[in-house]
Amino acid sequence: MSELLQRDLSYVADIMLRCRYLVALVGAGMSVESGVPPFRGPGGVWTRLGEPSMRAYDQFLADPKAWWERRVQGTDSVPEFREALERAIPNPGHYALVELEEMGLLKYVITQNIDNLHRAAGSKSVAEIHGNRFKLRCMECSARFPREDIPIITLPPFCPHCGGIVKGDGVMFGEPIPPDVLETCQEQTYLCDGMLLLGTSGVVYPAAALPRIAKERGAILAEINTDDTALTGLCDISLRGATGLLLPLLVQEIKSRI
Ligand code: APR
Repeated sequence: MSELLQRDLSYVADIMLRCRYLVALVGAGMSVESGVPPFRGPGGVWTRLGEPSMRAYDQFLADPKAWWERRVQGTDSVPEFREALERAIPNPGHYALVELEEMGLLKYVITQNIDNLHRAAGSKSVAEIHGNRFKLRCMECSARFPREDIPIITLPPFCPHCGGIVKGDGVMFGEPIPPDVLETCQEQTYLCDGMLLLGTSGVVYPAAALPRIAKERGAILAEINTDDTALTGLCDISLRGATGLLLPLLVQEIKSRI
């Protein structure tokens, strides 16, 4: 390991051990080593196909039945992305966050990823700001269900609790973040005195506002990313590398001190 990397890991470990309340904001880069392509940057889905329309949610509202028909036919998303999500399993970066949580160092994970990999790895305190692809959500009462629990007979399906229309839990472009999960993310941001920024380009709001709010409230920001991002300039330190490699090294560095 280079001296520079060792010095940087040591500095981030110092920050984390000094924090009273450390949270993580996670982006698609965290799942790249699980075989899931990112959206932006090299190999990104939107880099190749262009950013999707912000009208996706309006189109759903206009015709939920048509959306469900495309979903049932499997024509509602980018095939290779959907297949990669189906195959994905947690990588060493996800397990490193579980260890940090179990050590009491990491209080919460705010993830923009819908792939469920944090929960699959064993993380307990997770807020999925863009939803979870394995769940459905009622648009009226926000009740969430494992996707296999709602029989897809009528399209669109209706909520067994309140009769509202049910959609995928994944937040569509143009869709407001569900109030319950947004409140959790804001609360965790206000509570933190340190935030790890892991594999996110920091360009999609409101998630991208959270590090800015944390910084304004005096939190220390540490980034792990293979490239510079819109958040790099805000950070106290930015490690260049893959989360699946650097997070386990960080855990090792911390363990060597306690
Ligand atoms: N380790 C660390 N960082 C990585 C890795 C890796 N192995 N591979 C890629 N990255 C970085 C990229 O450099 C980029 O900065 O991860 C970031 C991924 O950025 P995006 O693809 O924009 O993902 P994200 O920030 O999560 O996007 C936010 O946009 O399309 C919407 O809803 C979608 O949740 C997503 C949101």
